[in-house]
Amino acid sequence: MPVGYALVMDPPPVEDYLRLRADAGLSPKTEEQAVAGLPGSWAACHVVHEVTDQVVGMGRVLGDGGWYFHVVDMAVHPGHQRRGLGDAILTALLERIRVSAPGGAYVNLLADPPGRRLYARHGFAETAPGSVGMALTLG
Ligand SMILES: CC(C)(COP(=O)(O)OP(=O)(O)OC[C@H]1O[C@@H](n2cnc3c(N)ncnc32)[C@H](O)[C@@H]1OP(=O)(O)O)[C@@H](O)C(=O)NCCC(=O)NCCS
Repeated sequence: MPVGYALVMDPPPVEDYLRLRADAGLSPKTEEQAVAGLPGSWAACHVVHEVTDQVVGMGRVLGDGGWYFHVVDMAVHPGHQRRGLGDAILTALLERIRVSAPGGAYVNLLADPPGRRLYARHGFAETAPGSVGMALTLG
């Protein structure tokens, strides 16, 4: 971990989760969605800035525990980006899969532009054109 930050291997508190998604430019979610969703994480972590005690980074893995894992909610507060926090978060989540899941785990994610180089450094490769991401948001 970069000096001055602590990694906690749990989801962030609901209010920090909602704030950090918005601050990082991810789509806003409701408290109801966060309260229902965070306990469903297969793995999660957040980063605390030790001087201010603020949650400034997070990431989660949704998974079946067997072979299929999906990385979501990768976010670092803009004031703390480009210090290696995103790298530390992803490293911790992938290590958790390596340690806790059977061999052969398939790990995927939907990569927004800010994270693409980070994910590629960790071995992620684009699936298109063979497989493209498709999404549906229900009303
Ligand atoms: C994607 C995201 C989580 C990355 O977080 P981050 O903490 O900035 O990630 P890192 O610091 O580990 O790496 C980012 C860059 O900073 C560089 N960096 C790391 N430590 C550094 C340091 N001490 N000094 C200068 N640069 C540094 C890395 O090399 C990397 O460079 P690159 O992207 O040009 O290859 C962050 O940009 C973010 O929250 N973006 C908005 C939300 C988002 O789009 N999330 C992804 C959804 S898929």
